[in-house]
Amino acid sequence: MRQNEERDVYMIALGSDHAGYRLKQEIIKYLDSHGFDWKDYGTFSEESCDYPVYAQAVARAILDGDCDRGLLFCGTGVGIAMAANKVPGIRAASCSDVFSAEMCRRHNNAQILALGGRVVGTGLAEKLVEVFLAAEFEGGRHARRVEMIDGIK
Ligand code: RB5
Repeated sequence: MRQNEERDVYMIALGSDHAGYRLKQEIIKYLDSHGFDWKDYGTFSEESCDYPVYAQAVARAILDGDCDRGLLFCGTGVGIAMAANKVPGIRAASCSDVFSAEMCRRHNNAQILALGGRVVGTGLAEKLVEVFLAAEFEGGRHARRVEMIDGIK
C-alpha cells in the first residue's frame, strides 16, 4: 500500500457488466474527487455483456498485485461477486448496507466490494465505497477464519 500525507492510497480495480456500468461511472467521479487511483477493466458501454469476464479480470489484477482493492458492479452485485469468489484467494462481498461494507473488510478481509446498479443509488454506493476503502482488516481470530475460507477447495 502506498502512502500519502493523509492516508493510505489504493490502486483500485474497477469492473462491471452493462447493468453496473452507469453506477461504475458515478463511482469513478467519486474516486476522482477523493484522490483515489483506479484502473477500469471494463466493460466500457451499456451494451449487453457477461459479468464473469470482468469479475475475473479484477480478481486477477488483485492477485497479481496490480491493484489493492476491487470494486465490481452488476445489476444486483450478486452474480459478479459469485464469479470473483470462484478465483482462489479472492474474497468479494456483495453489500447494500454500510455496516456490512465496513465489516467485510474488518472481519473478512474482503479485497472486493460488489455493488448492484439496480439496487443501490449513487449516494449510498458512495458511502459503501467510502467505508470499504477506509476500513482495515482486524486480524487476530478473524485471520484464522479467513485462512479457513481460503482453505476450502
Ligand atoms: C444482467 O441482466 C444481470 O443479470 C447481471 O447484471 C447481474 O445482476 C447478475 O447477477
